[in-house]
Order: sequence, then C-alpha cells, then structure tokens
Amino acid sequence: MSTSFQTIRGTFDILPDAYTDDGGTRIAPSAEWRHVEATVRDVMRRHNFDEIRTPILEPTELVARGVGESTDIVQKEMFAFERGDTQYVLRPEITAPVVRAYLQHHLDQRGGVQKLFYLGPCFRAEKPQKGRYRQFHQFGIEILGADEARADAETIAVLMAVCEALGLSDLKLRLNTLGTPERREEYVQALEEYLRPYANELSDTSRRRLERNPLRILDTKVEHEQKLLRDAPKLIDFVDEESLVHYDEVKGLLTDLDIEYEEAPRLVRGLDYYTETTFELESPGLGAQSALAGGGRYDRLAEVLGSDEPVPAVGFAAGMERLFLALDAADAERPGPPTPDVFIAALGDDAEQWVFRTSQELRNEGLHVAHDLMGRSLKAQMKEANRQKAPYAMIIGGNELEAEAATVKEMKSGEQEEVPFDELTPYLQRRLEGNASGGAPA
Ligand code: HAM
Repeated sequence: MSTSFQTIRGTFDILPDAYTDDGGTRIAPSAEWRHVEATVRDVMRRHNFDEIRTPILEPTELVARGVGESTDIVQKEMFAFERGDTQYVLRPEITAPVVRAYLQHHLDQRGGVQKLFYLGPCFRAEKPQKGRYRQFHQFGIEILGADEARADAETIAVLMAVCEALGLSDLKLRLNTLGTPERREEYVQALEEYLRPYANELSDTSRRRLERNPLRILDTKVEHEQKLLRDAPKLIDFVDEESLVHYDEVKGLLTDLDIEYEEAPRLVRGLDYYTETTFELESPGLGAQSALAGGGRYDRLAEVLGSDEPVPAVGFAAGMERLFLALDAADAERPGPPTPDVFIAALGDDAEQWVFRTSQELRNEGLHVAHDLMGRSLKAQMKEANRQKAPYAMIIGGNELEAEAATVKEMKSGEQEEVPFDELTPYLQRRLEGNASGGAPA
C-alpha cells in the first residue's frame, strides 16, 4: 500500500507503535503520550491547577502584540494567513491566549488567584531538526493575579514535580531576573551603546538584533561575541532594589524546597513579555535543543493586551517532544501499548455472530475485548491473539455453542478451563484481578 501524501516537514504522526522519523528520532507511541499527559494532569491536580483550553487559531495581532513585534517568532516564524478581513495565526505559544481568555471572560471575578494549566499543539515555522518541529506540543501553567515570589517559586516547583514524576533527573535549572521594563530599557540602551562600535564584528543574526532587539544578543552562542559581552554592561547592575528583593525571595524559596538552580545572568528568553524572574530548564540529553522548558514573570502583558489594570502573572511551558527525548536519554520507564484482556476466536458463522454480540456485552461490563473482523482461520486468529498479547483467549465453535460454555485459555501457561457462558464476566474479572495484583489466580 502507498500514497504520495506525506506529513508536512516539521510535523509528525503519533501512532500506536513507536517509530523512527527521517531524522533518526524516535517518535513515541500514543500510549506514552497518554502516560505523560496523565502524569501532567495528576501533578496539576495535586498543585490545585485547573485546565484551560484555548483555540489553536488566534488573531495575529494578539501574538504580534503579546509576544512582541521584534521577536523571532513574530518576525519569521508565524503561520499566519488572511481570510476576509481577519488575520489568523496558528498559535505559536499559549501564554498570550491564556491572558486574552482571562481578560475576555473576567476570570479575576472568580476570586483569588487563577491557577491554570494547558496541554496542546503550537506552531512555529522554524527550521526543523531534532527536538525542533513546526507543529509541537506544549504543556504549561499560568498563575494570574499574584505578584508574590511564592507564585514564581510554585511555578518552578510544578515544573520540577512533573519531571520528577516522569523519572527525569540530572536537569539544570537556570535562573535570572530581568527587573522592570523601565530599568531594562535603560540597560538595553547601555548595551547598544557598548556594542555599536563592534557592529561590524557581529554575526548577521546579532547585527540584526542590535537594530531590533539588542537584549537577545546576550543569548549568542558565537564565541567571540560571548567574549565581547564579558566587558559589556551587566543587566543585574540596572535592576532596581525592589526587583532584587523579589529575586532574592524566589531564590530563598527554591532553596527551601531543595530545588537546585544556577544563576544565568545572560538568560533573557525569546519572548518580549517577560519582567523580573525568568528561567529555563535544560536537560543534558537534548543536545543543541537543550531547553526542555522555559518561563518567567510577565507582569505587563495584560496591559499590553488592553487591560486597564495590571495583572501580575508568572508561568512556564515545556515542550513534549523534548521531554520524550529526555525520557529516552534517561531510559525512563513508560507503559507499553494497551493489550486486550481477552481475544475471542470464532469458528463458523454462528460462532462469529455469537462472538460479535458477546464481545459487546463483555465490553459493556468494562472488559477490553478483541476479536477477528476478517473471517480468518482459527490458526490466524490465535496468531493475532498472540500478536496483541492478550493474556486470555477463548475459542467458540459449534460444540461450545451447544454446551453453552467456553474454553478459556491462559496464553502464558497454556492452561484451559471450561466456563459457562453466563459466568464469563465474573470469571475473567477475577482472573485479571489476580494477574494485576500479582497473586495466584483464584
Ligand atoms: P518558549 O521558551 O518559547 O516559551 O517555549 C517553551 C518550550 O516549548 C521550549 O522550552 C521547548 O521545549 C518547546 N518548544 C518551543 N519551540 C519548539 C519547537 N519549534 N519544537 C519543539 N519544541 C519547542 C513559551 O512558549 C512561553 N509561553 C512559556 C511561558 C509560559 N512563559 C510564561 N508562561
């Protein structure tokens, strides 16, 4: 079988089985995605976060204003299009959409601080490579309405709790403060003045950033630029006293929670909305795309999006694809694909009809039942039962229908038992329970 259609570059299918993509990256099976998602949901519940789901389509202006006109995302990575009078964008991230929803639905009126989490696809027209996709998946949180350092520390604690629950260790948390936008503006001017005379020595990317977003030059991986930055003005020298107190409090709380971090004075992040605390979580197994997650405070975003009152806020987002790379590198335990509780093989037309009906009845009782839909031979059906790793199989033919009893076979031991039709459900449930608890079957 074949088709000339393929997934678009930078996107991928999630299948029942794991497979390796063209770039040699293992794509996790859907069971592993469910496992990660269920773990995220469990950690969120324990930390008292409730879910928010926003559309994948948003107005382009929301992203342009929210994420910032001068960012790479808005300059060159948006999947944006026009229909009629409306400009649409496939969301490149979920923070601006969450703040839009908070303002649109007056979520502040629910009272107190809003603690929201999300899971879902995002889109960025980046150059695809290992750990970098055009459609990727984020999970994250946003805490809206809290300016306390405890909100910053809780944000980081939730991220670490998810990683720990998934069995990831050996992670590096990098932490910084950007201070207030006013002080940062002063710093950007000083940085620009310092770098201007060296403009000709800068890489194309940094020269472009010098014009549009000089702060991002701090992110450079180019060695001679890093050297140049050693004598550049320091962001921390421009941060005011109040911001420093806040930053110290965040660090103290993290220490209190036994969360290790490393100060990263040049960590500025690629989105414009950040103020005060910023952080990234790195995993050594990831290679070039080492950022597993990133986040920070964004106290001015609500006003940028039109709010007449400030909404202090902080959050993070993690990339699911990168999380899988880290899980693979750590060889973390994950569940295999689901297996049926029982496979029912049918011999003959009457048996097929009985199996089809009885399967539905057993499924209604909560059992995971597999059967053949191709009218195959008994041998082929039993082979299929093996392939699907069903712990039990039944063969139904004319004799069984007449006796109104099935022969239930335990696949591993080969042991067989006669079970009357009307006792099938409790029998199977009892046996499966015994298996699940590891005890001997009753
Ligand atoms: P971000 O750093 O742009 O932050 O993205 C967060 C995470 O998404 C990254 O650390 C990475 O794991 C993943 N990611 C980003 N781009 C790609 C890509 N092209 N392919 C695969 N994974 C990717 C944000 O999006 C902010 N909204 C985070 C935040 C939430 N800040 C405050 N609240």
